[in-house]
Amino acid sequence: MQKNIEEIKYELKKYGQEHLLNHYETLDETKKKELLEQLSNINYELINSLYEKSKKEEKTTEDVIEPIEYLDKFKLYDDYKRYSAIGKEAIKAGKLAVVTMAGGQGTRLGHSGPKGTYDIGLDSHKSLFELLADGIKDEAKKYDVTVPWFIMTSKENNDETVRFFEKNRFFGYHKDKNLFFFKQGQLPMVDTEGKILIGEDGLVKEAADGHGGIYEALIKNKMTAKMKELGVEWVFIGGVDNCLVKMVDPVLMGIAIEKNASIAGKSIVKANPHEKVGVFCKKNGKPYVVEYSEISEEMAEAVDENGELLFGESHILCNLFSLAAIEKMGANPLPYHIAYKKAKYIDKDGNLVEPTSPNAYKFEAFLFDAFGEADNMAVLRVKREEEFAPVKNSDDVGVDCPKTARKLYEAFHGLD
Ligand code: UD1
Repeated sequence: MQKNIEEIKYELKKYGQEHLLNHYETLDETKKKELLEQLSNINYELINSLYEKSKKEEKTTEDVIEPIEYLDKFKLYDDYKRYSAIGKEAIKAGKLAVVTMAGGQGTRLGHSGPKGTYDIGLDSHKSLFELLADGIKDEAKKYDVTVPWFIMTSKENNDETVRFFEKNRFFGYHKDKNLFFFKQGQLPMVDTEGKILIGEDGLVKEAADGHGGIYEALIKNKMTAKMKELGVEWVFIGGVDNCLVKMVDPVLMGIAIEKNASIAGKSIVKANPHEKVGVFCKKNGKPYVVEYSEISEEMAEAVDENGELLFGESHILCNLFSLAAIEKMGANPLPYHIAYKKAKYIDKDGNLVEPTSPNAYKFEAFLFDAFGEADNMAVLRVKREEEFAPVKNSDDVGVDCPKTARKLYEAFHGLD
């Protein structure tokens, strides 16, 4: 919705953000239009309240955090076959769709394009997107179906992502038939005074609002409607940066169906107390993930009587949802987490500032904050070497980098 400039000025004054029009007159006509469009659509009330929240300490002491029950895929014994049969039947009936979250920027990796276009250095030089496509197609072939693939992009990387798929003939998929792109939401970044920033392009500095917006984005972009049309009942949602992600998994599906669990997540054993992964747990009796950036040292290091980590079930962003659960979760807004980041901006005198240390707040919702909405959630422990080869950092960091991912991928596929 586009408001007129007077309405915008009134609103900016009300929320102390008048500076956003400081350089309006220096912009060309297209940019002027774009800026007004942005300013018309900002929820200033929300941004101000998020900024206020950034100044307060989170009170978490009243929450009761406990370990979560899980099933081990390799200790299912006789149940394995039954779960697998149930899942296979559902996959064959076309009830599964998969979603790849590819809205994040590969900043830590140091890659300038969309993360999915990254070549991890295999002999085949396949990109992450192609490795993911191979993974879906190889599994789907076993059941003689095509599993529809939905890709979440961001405003920033959508066009480049779609062009990359086009160039690669959509990896055998058909756009708008069994391959769909949709964009996640964005939120403005604010400085330490709560002022919304203007980026170097003269427009409001926005950042992807985290993958917690995925439920709403799936609904708003009519992706859930599309899924229904295709007969989909279960939706696997995973990240773009795990080249061993197993999206089509009959055992996970069988468990969800038989246990009537509206969400089923996969876990792996945490490598060490400080590995940079979220951990599954229960918060006030409900399923929850404590993110690595927010876990206390005490919780990370707590062990049971056998010396095993009490909170050792790592969340690997491999979660299966019933379509009904997605619709339910999309109807309720999730809380935002606050990250303090470096962000280039134009100051009040029109100069570009390139900070060398963090200077701005970014607000992100996490998809797992909705897990508490599940009537019943199952957690399935799988093997790291079979399902988790993340590409997060550049090789010089030495962990979760192209080199480690390549090694894991090659070992799993017998290419080493
Ligand atoms: C993530 C999980 C963490 C998990 C780890 C496993 C989050 C917040 N944390 O950490 O619990 O243990 O993976 O590898 O996810 N993405 C979007 N849009 C966004 C933000 C992210 O699509 O706005 C996508 C990214 O493209 C990526 C995935 O979500 O595919 C993970 O995002 P990232 O922020 O890199 O999370 P991690 O720190 O890797």
